[in-house]
Amino acid sequence: MERREPPGRLGRVLIAGQEVATRVADLGLVIRRDYAGRFPLFVGVLKGAFVFAADLFRAAALPSNLDFMGVSSYGGSARPSGIVRLTADLSVSIEGRDVIIVEDIIDTGRTIAYLRRNLATRHPRSLAFCVLLDKVARREVEVAVDYVGFAIPDEFVVGYGLDHDGYYRNLRDVAVLDPSAPA
Ligand code: IMP
Ligand code: MG
Repeated sequence: MERREPPGRLGRVLIAGQEVATRVADLGLVIRRDYAGRFPLFVGVLKGAFVFAADLFRAAALPSNLDFMGVSSYGGSARPSGIVRLTADLSVSIEGRDVIIVEDIIDTGRTIAYLRRNLATRHPRSLAFCVLLDKVARREVEVAVDYVGFAIPDEFVVGYGLDHDGYYRNLRDVAVLDPSAPA
């Protein structure tokens, strides 16, 4: 169905684009230092992390590769189903590689838990997780992540790659969205 307007109503800016950029640059420098002398494989989790992955990959400025994998947990709605599904697999083997998974946000923790289980069976040399946003209060599954951009409150956010129903990914800011409000 063709839409005239994106769903929901945009609210306040939670993290301005400039603040995101500064933090991503810092994370890149930390990863650059931690992985000095190694050749890691960055894996962006589609679709939400594609903007973050592109920026972090450049900020780290290491001799490294980038690949993507697709997982889906939300479908079209703003509430999680709890079921994580692989929608696109990696195009390369990760056996023996230093892998850095780049994810947009941890909410319940189920996506990260699924990725850890799935990727550990492929015998990487190491497996690290870097997430931009952490909704700490919503955690249902305990997961350890290595790098976090920002801890955020329990609000639905969009922008910088994050969507609602496919919209808002192209915003530079991370902003709060009321998903149920008419546009
Ligand atoms: P988890 O499996 O519950 O941790 O959910 C993580 C996934 O849910 C993320 O990769 C996002 O795709 C999606 N998600 C969780 N919270 C938000 C949000 O506030 N805005 C947009 N997507 C979200
Ligand atoms: Mg995601």
